[in-house]
Amino acid sequence: MTNIIRIEIYRYNPEEDAEPHMQAFEVPLEKKGMKLLDVLNYIKGHMDGTLTYRRSCGEGVCGSDGMNINGVNGLACITPIEGLKQPIKVRPLPSMEVIRDLVVDTTHFFDQYRQIKPWLQSTRPTPEHERLQTPDERAELDGSYECIMCGCCTTSCPSWWWNGDRFMGPAVLLQADRWIKDSRDEATGERLDQLEDAFKLYRCHQIMNCMEACPKGLNPTAAINHIKRTLLNRKS
Ligand code: SF4
Ligand code: SF4
Ligand code: FES
Repeated sequence: MTNIIRIEIYRYNPEEDAEPHMQAFEVPLEKKGMKLLDVLNYIKGHMDGTLTYRRSCGEGVCGSDGMNINGVNGLACITPIEGLKQPIKVRPLPSMEVIRDLVVDTTHFFDQYRQIKPWLQSTRPTPEHERLQTPDERAELDGSYECIMCGCCTTSCPSWWWNGDRFMGPAVLLQADRWIKDSRDEATGERLDQLEDAFKLYRCHQIMNCMEACPKGLNPTAAINHIKRTLLNRKS
């Protein structure tokens, strides 16, 4: 690896640019173990303060810096520079409208998330302390509670690209499954009713891009299959 990182970044300022373009930068490799977010921060701090992107936690927790890195969706803050082919090509998450540079409009994505009511629904009186689960019940949530709603999976899903107005997409369906599986939740029937729909759920064609894209190593395809199986089982 040389001491220079060559990177090309998608730039678009709707107030000034007729068309988006790629801008090349050469950034010094300041330390070993640099992540892509370090490079973007360097450019913003030392080379071009107008570069626009979202980030917050810097450690793969908030889900705000999803972007397309050399053609693959991922989180800039946990993507090491080592191993990335140069020039590194960074673009916004695909299929969402670009607000500016790497910032996309997530309104529709989070509207779909709200539709599945991602909170505990229960008519039981609120207990004085926690709502308890057995270790097995708690373990059912492994593989879904870790989701940070970064959108890397949903924006890599061809079914969502074509039918995103009605297909919920892998992130939202993984979250739906998380609440269906939660032993403390009493709205399972309503949650399943809402998803029993040719578009909302069944537009998933098992292409599995979502699983490949997830920076947290989660498997939305398995969650979608679990919802389908649960729907089948309640019919029989
Ligand atoms: S498995 Fe389903 S949800 Fe995942 S990318 Fe493919 S079509 Fe989309
Ligand atoms: S399943 Fe993975 S890729 Fe999809 S939103 Fe959650 S953390 Fe991001
Ligand atoms: S900055 Fe929070 S996940 Fe990357």
